[in-house]
Amino acid sequence: MSKNILIAPSILSADFANLKDEIKKVELAGADWLHIDVMDGHFVPNITIGPQVVKSLRKETNLTFDVHLMIENPLKYIDSFAQAGADYITVHYEACENNIDEVINKIKSNNIKTGLSIKPKTPISVLKPFLNKIDLVLIMSVEPGFGGQKYIETSTEKIRLLKNISPENLILEVDGGINQETAKLAVEAGADALVAGAYVYGANDVKQAINSLKIV
Ligand code: DX5
Ligand code: ZN
Repeated sequence: MSKNILIAPSILSADFANLKDEIKKVELAGADWLHIDVMDGHFVPNITIGPQVVKSLRKETNLTFDVHLMIENPLKYIDSFAQAGADYITVHYEACENNIDEVINKIKSNNIKTGLSIKPKTPISVLKPFLNKIDLVLIMSVEPGFGGQKYIETSTEKIRLLKNISPENLILEVDGGINQETAKLAVEAGADALVAGAYVYGANDVKQAINSLKIV
């Protein structure tokens, strides 16, 4: 039995001087979602884009915007990203340990989908109280901050464990170091969606690269 795996190219590896075309490129090549990595220079050591860029991109594509907030105090920025056109907003457990319910409710109040992410060293057990309240879990398979890193092998077991305790309609998404080989590991362990930056944007044939992630 095969299932349809959602592929979310990450624009972190796109040419930022040419984002409109870079998005069209993956849309035409069969991407399901567009993964947008937001970094603040505090939660992670890198800085990327803010709501204004998301708003501009929203006019250029109908792809689902999968916005990954790698920022401190996400509560403060949820409304801006939702108004800019996010379809999913995923926040980090580590960035809002003390007010996760408030953050989840804030995302939901914007009538968009809610995601929670954990870094490679955070155990999946911390997610248990929230699994029935959210739409997506994003398992980081690299330390967040940069594209083009190597998949951390222990992520596969985390996906498997999470799959075992997840409600059926919860989407398990995996982010970091995804290529044809690691996609197989992640999907066999239970992943429903895969983020891929360097692998997709570095490919000569983007369509072929996206398709190769769907075949396991
Ligand atoms: C890393 C980001 C990822 C990154 C993935 O902090 O969250 O989404 O773009 O890039 P690759 O697929 O190159 O590992
Ligand atoms: Zn990401």
